[in-house]
Amino acid sequence: MQTRAAVLRESPGPWEVQTVELDPPKDHEVLVRMVASGLCHSDDHFVTGDIPPGHLPFCGGHEGAGVVEEVGPGVSSLSVGDHIVTSFIPSCGRCRWCATGVQALCDNGELLAIGHQLDGTFRMHLEGEDVGQACLVSTFAEYTVMPETSAIKIPKDIPLDVAALLGCGVPTGWGSAVNAAQVTPGDVVIVVGVGGIGINAVQGARHAGASRIIAVDPVAMKRNFALKLGATDAVADQAEAADLARSATNGQGADSAIVCVGVTHGEHVAGAFSAIRKAGTVVVTGVGPAVEVGIPVGLLELSMYQKRIQGVILGMMSPNKDVPRLLGLWRAGQLKLEELVTRTYGLEEISQGYADMHAGVNMRGVLKFDQPKAAADAAEATVGVSV
Ligand SMILES: NC(=O)c1ccc[n+]([C@@H]2O[C@H](COP(=O)([O-])OP(=O)(O)OC[C@H]3O[C@@H](n4cnc5c(N)ncnc54)[C@H](O)[C@@H]3O)[C@@H](O)[C@H]2O)c1
Ligand SMILES: [Zn+2]
Ligand SMILES: [Zn+2]
Repeated sequence: MQTRAAVLRESPGPWEVQTVELDPPKDHEVLVRMVASGLCHSDDHFVTGDIPPGHLPFCGGHEGAGVVEEVGPGVSSLSVGDHIVTSFIPSCGRCRWCATGVQALCDNGELLAIGHQLDGTFRMHLEGEDVGQACLVSTFAEYTVMPETSAIKIPKDIPLDVAALLGCGVPTGWGSAVNAAQVTPGDVVIVVGVGGIGINAVQGARHAGASRIIAVDPVAMKRNFALKLGATDAVADQAEAADLARSATNGQGADSAIVCVGVTHGEHVAGAFSAIRKAGTVVVTGVGPAVEVGIPVGLLELSMYQKRIQGVILGMMSPNKDVPRLLGLWRAGQLKLEELVTRTYGLEEISQGYADMHAGVNMRGVLKFDQPKAAADAAEATVGVSV
């Protein structure tokens, strides 16, 4: 079949909305009609060239929700008509990591920036060339094919545009606080960068019982939004956050600092490192240029103060277990989802969506595939950031 999709032909390079050929699902794969896709910053690294895709052309998008339209041979966990959220790691259920309950580290995750399917062949094609699929799912397409193990079934009463954020932003941010920083009641937590990921670290830290949550972001709208979602303080730079944390802890420093800056550099991690107490934890969720190495921290401070620097992917979550649990929290009114979507866009407006992300006007922009341009304009007029 043919479908419309946002594709990169080069990196750096712009999204081009093209008609691509899509093969039917093969063994253990499903055809999904996308309903909504979040515009996560991670896909923008491919546009800037900070993280070049492993295969070009490349169809982006990894944070989405849709409806199963067709199942390939051998699919046992999904049926036509099921509603699904994508998991940006296709968890096999059998490798060492899946077997120990850490689906986010599934060995199949190594394919996420290359984008052929699990059998090594491609389902998407453009002008005779194979197209790589972001995280094997490529949610920036009206229809897409993905492994059965990349699709998490959700109840049909959950609005799919709301559920889309469970594909990345919500579990990644939430888990950065709850799993990676292991926030416990009374903790003082700094969240550096409160965009689509960091705001969910704020939500996770609040839920875990932090007494102070200090949000850091240069953009005033983000700071105000963080205060509405549970931050106790919001400041524009890391040095001010470190001072606040020390003043709240008799000079010791924050229990943890979670770095979610859009383009994360070593100095952001170093700033977080100097703000935490002895045996505290810096969580590094944000990513930056693939070629960049080094974190400028003192080795003596690292060893003598027993500080930890902890990387994290997908919030250390196991989506098969955790997506339903997060939805349970949402149903109980303990997790905000709708409020995170500032603005929606049609597929053709994807570059505008990312321009708005860079301009700092969205907590999260979301593509809606049934949304023509006029509807997008109306949505822009009505959707706000009020909580
Ligand atoms: N580890 C993972 O599994 C994972 C998953 C998804 C996204 N990410 C990464 O997380 C990062 C954040 O993604 P996002 O979608 O939330 O991006 P975003 O653009 O929505 O948010 C980034 C925020 O950082 C803020 N910021 C910029 N410079 C800053 C600074 N010096 N100090 C404090 N804040 C600053 C921006 O104003 C913005 O609010 C990206 O690097 C993304 O690739 C990682
Ligand atoms: Zn696995
Ligand atoms: Zn993401």
